[in-house]
Amino acid sequence: MPARIANSVQSVHSRIRELAEVAMGMEGVLKLYFGESNQPTPEFIKQAGIRALSEGYTFYTENAGLPSLRRAVAEHYRKWHSVSLDPESEVVIGASGVQALHVGIRCVLDPGDEAIILTPAWPNGASIVAMANATAIHVAHPLCGDRYVIDFDALESAVSPRTRLLVYTSPSNPLGWVATVEDQVRLLDFARRHGLWILADEVYDRLYYAGARLGDPVPSILRLATREDAVMVVHSLSKTYCMTGWRVGWLVARRDLAQKATQLNEFMISCASGFAQKAAEVALGGGEEEVLTMLERLKANRDFCIAALEKMLRVTVPKPAGAFYLFPKIDGLRDSFDFCRRLLDQERVGLAPGVAFGAGGEGSIRICFAADRSVLEPALERLEKFLRLSVFA
Ligand SMILES: Cc1ncc(COP(=O)(O)O)c(C=O)c1O
Repeated sequence: MPARIANSVQSVHSRIRELAEVAMGMEGVLKLYFGESNQPTPEFIKQAGIRALSEGYTFYTENAGLPSLRRAVAEHYRKWHSVSLDPESEVVIGASGVQALHVGIRCVLDPGDEAIILTPAWPNGASIVAMANATAIHVAHPLCGDRYVIDFDALESAVSPRTRLLVYTSPSNPLGWVATVEDQVRLLDFARRHGLWILADEVYDRLYYAGARLGDPVPSILRLATREDAVMVVHSLSKTYCMTGWRVGWLVARRDLAQKATQLNEFMISCASGFAQKAAEVALGGGEEEVLTMLERLKANRDFCIAALEKMLRVTVPKPAGAFYLFPKIDGLRDSFDFCRRLLDQERVGLAPGVAFGAGGEGSIRICFAADRSVLEPALERLEKFLRLSVFA
């Protein structure tokens, strides 16, 4: 028997990446496939990283991350969510949001277990579940009028004796849907009744356009949950601070899980890079002006893209309340990967296919509106032309 690749990873690959890798080998592509802007990391954060390097933050740190960064994370929750956390026992720093997601999921699933995932969702959660030899059960968000909602009946039906975990993302990638406080009360009740963990992916918490003031975050589930609840929250520096390449994120969780995640970090990453952690600490401690400027730019981009999409043939586009994606539905579209592939080849526009986001995603395409207008405007013009001239199903 030849040596082979493990079954648990055979089906795991990102269809967003698949398309992006093709695009990266092409010239002149307008790139809207990844969840990042073309804005550089703010200067004060870059300088903090450089300073940290010269101050000697080039060694391993604690598995749970630098104590000073964990304190800055606790301060984030105090300041923005009025939640009090113990930085020593309830916060674990990871090398990115996706790694925090990985360690959190790994802590609660055994082979054969099931995790319910509210979809369409960024595909990495479901893939990480598969890598744990467990099964992701997708429950799609139905669109009610112009707002996505949670189908609580479908959620109840999805529970089996093997269910251990419920994963949701608020604000959602790709929908921009935001869980209301009432949604969270019901999700908590659901999880408590069935003895499940909740993993709330809140990496976009500050990217919210429907708060009382721009800059106000979406409600975190940590406000409702007690510290004894089986709840974990994943977060990241990537989105709010344009730090996708720095790879720093965190997990907030019940103490026992946080302790285990800290231990598991040893076997995955040992720790996030020390100088990146120092830069993250500085980012969390300041930069409100930069965040607000970015939010104003994002909101204007969102409204510009929606106005352009609403004029296009066969397109319906729900208005996102958070994150930086639009997820327009294209009437009659049955193969979004093929659509995106042809759009890339013919028009040099790189989008993410809806099929990549699980149940409820096919028939849509994801556009990241975090890029500059100089990218968004020609990209939308080319999409309009493609929709007008192409035959697709
Ligand atoms: C919903 C969601 N969670 C987590 C992440 C992870 O971000 P990172 O690994 O860059 O911290 C992303 C990135 O796109 C995301 O969209």
